[in-house]
Amino acid sequence: MTPLPPRLGQLIKHRRVIVCCGAGGVGKTTTAAALALAGARAGRRVLVLTIDPSKRLAETLGVSRNPPTPVSLPPDRLAAAGITPPGSLDAWMLDPKLIADESVRRLTKTKEDADRVLNNRIYQQISAMVAGMHEYTAMEALHRFVTQGRYDLVVLDTPPSRHALDFLEAPRRLSALIEGKALTAFLPKSDSMVARAASKLVEKILGAIFGQDFAQEFIGFLVTFTGIFQSLTLDVRTMREFLSGDDVAFLLVASPAPAMLAEAYFFHDKTRELGLPFRGFVLNRSQARASALPFPDAAWLGPDAPAAALAALPKLQALAEVERQHAARDQDLVRQLQQKAGSAGAVHPLPELPQGADDMGTLLAIAESLANE
Ligand SMILES: Nc1ncnc2c1ncn2[C@@H]1O[C@H](COP(=O)(O)OP(=O)(O)OP(=O)(O)O)[C@@H](O)[C@H]1O
Ligand SMILES: [Mg+2]
Repeated sequence: MTPLPPRLGQLIKHRRVIVCCGAGGVGKTTTAAALALAGARAGRRVLVLTIDPSKRLAETLGVSRNPPTPVSLPPDRLAAAGITPPGSLDAWMLDPKLIADESVRRLTKTKEDADRVLNNRIYQQISAMVAGMHEYTAMEALHRFVTQGRYDLVVLDTPPSRHALDFLEAPRRLSALIEGKALTAFLPKSDSMVARAASKLVEKILGAIFGQDFAQEFIGFLVTFTGIFQSLTLDVRTMREFLSGDDVAFLLVASPAPAMLAEAYFFHDKTRELGLPFRGFVLNRSQARASALPFPDAAWLGPDAPAAALAALPKLQALAEVERQHAARDQDLVRQLQQKAGSAGAVHPLPELPQGADDMGTLLAIAESLANE
């Protein structure tokens, strides 16, 4: 007999880390917030690390942009959400740029080194561009909070990127960038006169092309950043081990649109490839559970139905038929996803909610549905 996949309610109660991945707009931030609520309601001390939540959701969680530290949900809201001690809920809005800057500060030896990198135009460009840099820094924040031990559960939302997990393979690529001949040629070398002369020449040429200031800035950047990339390589290895542990669960959020499903499959393959603990799919905006309303027919209207109602009946029937087809399609999707997940994880359908999902009442309903699947 194949073992039953772990229920989401169990993950919420027992794991220390839940990471929500998925394509843009599928509901990662909403799912992360609802899971965090569910965890806190189960009596755990929870932190949710969100990325760019909707304005309304940020208000619901009581977080503003760029607070220096996580913000606790005020006691009256905790009580209203059914969270009682020892349960608690903190939220932090991750600003990947802010965290990347913080990493630079931690990884550089002196304040001058840190400032040199942070103020460097090239760093500013590269930190925004290097695939994986933002994701890496988000995971690093996660790692920091988990190892501090202040929380029983940390839920991490991820940025809307297919590359959200690439940083785990990135050190190779990042250091390749730095070690690439094209770049090292620019580094000032002190080991031989010839090399020094060569790098002076490069500096002169760069200066002539881009201006002296830029050349200096570029070289300064490379020198300090080389050290940082070396530290990253180490940290990422530790992090990959940490993320592969038994305490961690990766949930993949999807919606029934074919492109979104394809992304969920892509992420599923990626977690397997990287050895990360995939533990389930959340199929958001699904009609799999659309209640089986009786199909509208003439008998409904009774013998004295007005002609207008009878005339409207075919339109109602057409709508009911579309709903029926969507429900059948989504039930089929749940089956397909379950097949893909095997015994590693379950599939949790969530309905499309007409009122959106940013307010506390709706989030609580989602939390309940996820926890008591
Ligand atoms: N089941 C649902 N029913 C109705 N609205 C929903 C549902 N799930 C999410 N939403 C709404 O859709 C919007 C996008 O959701 P959310 O921010 O969670 O997605 P995301 O995957 O985090 O997006 P991004 O990739 O941009 O970060 C939000 O306004 C949210 O309230
Ligand atoms: Mg989001």
